[in-house]
Amino acid sequence: MGIDQSGVWRFRDLLPIVSAEKIVTLREGNTPLYEMPKSAAALGLNWLLAKHQGMNPTGSFKDTGMTAALSVAVASGFEWVACASTGNTSAAMAAYAARAGLRSMVLIPEGKIAWGKLSQAMDYGSTTIQLRTDFDGCVKVLGEIVKRAPVYLLNSVNPYRLEGQKTPAFEILEQCEWQVPHHVIVPGGNLANCSALGKGFAEMKHLGFIHRVPKISVIQAEGANPLYQSMKANGGASLEPVTANTRASAIQIGNPASWRKAVRILVSTGGWCEQVSEREIALAKAEIGAEGIGCEPASAVTLAGLKKLVADGRVGKEETAVLLLTGHTLKDSDYTIKYHLGELLTDVEMADADAAEQARHIELRHAPMVLDADVEAVLRAIDSQAPAVLPA
Ligand code: F0G
Repeated sequence: MGIDQSGVWRFRDLLPIVSAEKIVTLREGNTPLYEMPKSAAALGLNWLLAKHQGMNPTGSFKDTGMTAALSVAVASGFEWVACASTGNTSAAMAAYAARAGLRSMVLIPEGKIAWGKLSQAMDYGSTTIQLRTDFDGCVKVLGEIVKRAPVYLLNSVNPYRLEGQKTPAFEILEQCEWQVPHHVIVPGGNLANCSALGKGFAEMKHLGFIHRVPKISVIQAEGANPLYQSMKANGGASLEPVTANTRASAIQIGNPASWRKAVRILVSTGGWCEQVSEREIALAKAEIGAEGIGCEPASAVTLAGLKKLVADGRVGKEETAVLLLTGHTLKDSDYTIKYHLGELLTDVEMADADAAEQARHIELRHAPMVLDADVEAVLRAIDSQAPAVLPA
């Protein structure tokens, strides 16, 4: 049956009950856990793993939560669902609403989401509204809409989203054969996903499947770092919203709804909140691409942040870390192309990079060549490339 092929609904005993015929599924979940040998070697770690949630049906981790919350919308008899989004939630909601035959409305900040995501909302038939504001402004408008119209809110404050988004924690444990990893590293935007995963691990411990939980660390972009600042200033007692600005548009969020939950997870698991620069994000994204995996910029903050946690010993060389890659590389191919053409980072940003980092960027960049349709020219191009580094 369809629901047994879903990596979310095969855990239905641990989910709020929706009768089976109301479940809206695209066979989400069951995503791969990849080894990251090159990044592990560069960091001096024995192991590094990446749970690739970008391998979900709409290309992001949002599908695991959306199948749960959209099914509740159907079971509750709603005709309309809506969300404010930096792009991935809207893509997921639009797809699941289309499957269920519901109408959906997305509010997105004009000019601030990646094309791949905008195209998905349109493709799946959503009423797509671009507001002249940022994500935080979209959330405010939607807050008023749901008070005045019978629309089911599918932002991550919806508790059923978190129920679905806890299931990758179960999968990670299965895939690690119940050896609990020491660290799980998650990007932080609206700050719901870290707590969803924390809930998943806590439930596994409560049920006696594991005896400890991983430390969950949250990584933010420097330009969208309200949780980082809050932890530093007052240990998460209060949070001052910021005006967010990062090329990792998925996490360009200045006033995260679920920051209190995130603080609880950081404190209860013993993880940390770190911030990473635009340069660090771009480099990490290229490194994840060079593993043959790839991800969107917001996901690459995990590797960039892990470097900092390893550098000062917060993550030990013998410990196992799992990066949560939240979105597929094709979500934001514009970013990737600009990086490889050397057009992403400004000269001012690159000015602070030391020689080793400059060299690393050059080594990772692969701009396309334009040649005449001439066999000799193509053969010369092959000769000009560095030799392959085959595994030992
Ligand atoms: N990574 C990606 C690719 C995302 O799309 C998001 C959030 C996050 C990380 C952060 O997760 O918000 O739970 O801390 N995207 C939302 C959206 C906000 O609208 O698609 P979070």
